[in-house]
Amino acid sequence: MSSADRARILVVEDNDTLRRGVARALRESWSDVDEASAGGDAIERIRDGCVESYDVIVSDLRLPGSDGVAVLRAARERDPRTSVVLMTAYGSIETAVEAMRLGAFDFVQKPLDLEQLELRVARALEHRRLLHEVNVLRAEQAGRSASDEIIGDSAALRDAADLARRVAPTRSTVLVTGETGTGKELIAALIHRASMRAEGPLVKVNCAALPETLLESELFGHERGAFTGADARRIGRFEEASGGTLFLDEIGDMSPTTQAKLLRVLQEQEFHRLGGTRVLRTDARIVSATNQPLEDSVASGDFREDLFFRLNVIRIHLPPLRERCEDLMALAHHFLQRFAKELDRPIRGFTEEALARLRGHHWPGNVRELHNTIERSVLLADGPRIGADDLSLSNAPVGREPGAWTPDLPPDGVSLADVERLLVLAALRRSGYVQKDAARLLQVSRRKLNYMIQRMGITHPGWRRNRGGEPKRGAKVRTEAGPGEG
Ligand SMILES: Nc1ncnc2c1ncn2[C@@H]1O[C@H](COP(=O)(O)OP(=O)(O)OP(=O)(O)O)[C@@H](O)[C@H]1O
Ligand SMILES: [Mg+2]
Repeated sequence: MSSADRARILVVEDNDTLRRGVARALRESWSDVDEASAGGDAIERIRDGCVESYDVIVSDLRLPGSDGVAVLRAARERDPRTSVVLMTAYGSIETAVEAMRLGAFDFVQKPLDLEQLELRVARALEHRRLLHEVNVLRAEQAGRSASDEIIGDSAALRDAADLARRVAPTRSTVLVTGETGTGKELIAALIHRASMRAEGPLVKVNCAALPETLLESELFGHERGAFTGADARRIGRFEEASGGTLFLDEIGDMSPTTQAKLLRVLQEQEFHRLGGTRVLRTDARIVSATNQPLEDSVASGDFREDLFFRLNVIRIHLPPLRERCEDLMALAHHFLQRFAKELDRPIRGFTEEALARLRGHHWPGNVRELHNTIERSVLLADGPRIGADDLSLSNAPVGREPGAWTPDLPPDGVSLADVERLLVLAALRRSGYVQKDAARLLQVSRRKLNYMIQRMGITHPGWRRNRGGEPKRGAKVRTEAGPGEG
């Protein structure tokens, strides 16, 4: 956004002498003054996405070709904050009134009084500056109220929320990391609501939920007939999120082809729909999230390094709940009050034993797990306070290690490779041979598990083979191979 002294102004007037005179007069106060002698030329300049929008446009109402009203429309379309001052011939007041109705900021009558015109332009700029301030204040306010919903006093959480608020007004790409249920989506929402895009859409895409072609069509849209089953044109999420924020969740699960396409959008802000040729532009702000250590995926070659750098411009990390005891306690009490009220249960607190149990639990599902645990115990508790048993948490000893499990080492030892294979098989069985779920059980990326499965020669009839001979990920989902593949 330009400040008043570095305002961008466009003068549109077909009479050369007049146009130059006006431009010269305005250049005395403002340096950045463009000229256009026809409506079409003006509209082209207005729509040029490579440069900032104009702050003020001074346009003749009657022009050859596209007239001042068309210029006004194009300007409002590009940026509603652009103020348009129309110059009308003496006597065309009615048209001028109509133009004001269409959103012109002001009008001046010919023959021009240049001083009058300068005054109007200054006023238009002031108006725009105030609009900008109002927007900033509104965004700050929204940011504050959005952070009210983020409960917790730990330094880690405060730092994360502070950083989110600080980067919100910029267009910087943000990567939010943390285990499942730590509040990544909450932070993404805070960034959106505290930004100047708050009035625009916040569009969410879960990159792990869809197989490759469907994900690409979801992100970029497709033209009719782009692949089998594409009966109608579909607008992609990138288009939908224009003027707003696109939240790409579980970004670590993206296939290499989709990664390449996403990289291109981030680099050029350009893309096309599947099966389409028209180049589309997007100005969506990208916030992505992952619960996988993306650095590892980069090291193993599963995630493009160049894409990682693009996404990881600003990193906001949410530590697991077990490492944020202040938040654990604050959230437990918050959820207790909330559910006691919502479920109309006369419960006022926790017993000492229950608090110790909460502190000792490992919370693999983090805040989401705590949320569910408290909801359940508010329903189950008999007395006025929630007891340790009401929590129905495992009786694991306080302070146990992550997922503590001690296998018995046979007297003669065992081959580590065999153990690995047995664990992979066990996880696959437990998850009904859905690799995505098995990967989660083993806390590795889907890609890594897939690699291990191939290396170990494990097969399952439910897995279709694709060209690379690699089991199709998420074997339960069957899709048509579209143009997005290969
Ligand atoms: N600090 C917090 N204050 C209040 N509620 C929270 C906080 N952190 C998380 N929550 C709540 O916990 C739940 C899980 O949070 P969220 O969906 O943001 O997690 P996530 O990190 O995106 O998880 P996943 O990786 O599984 O998608 C939500 O209901 C969210 O509102
Ligand atoms: Mg999430």
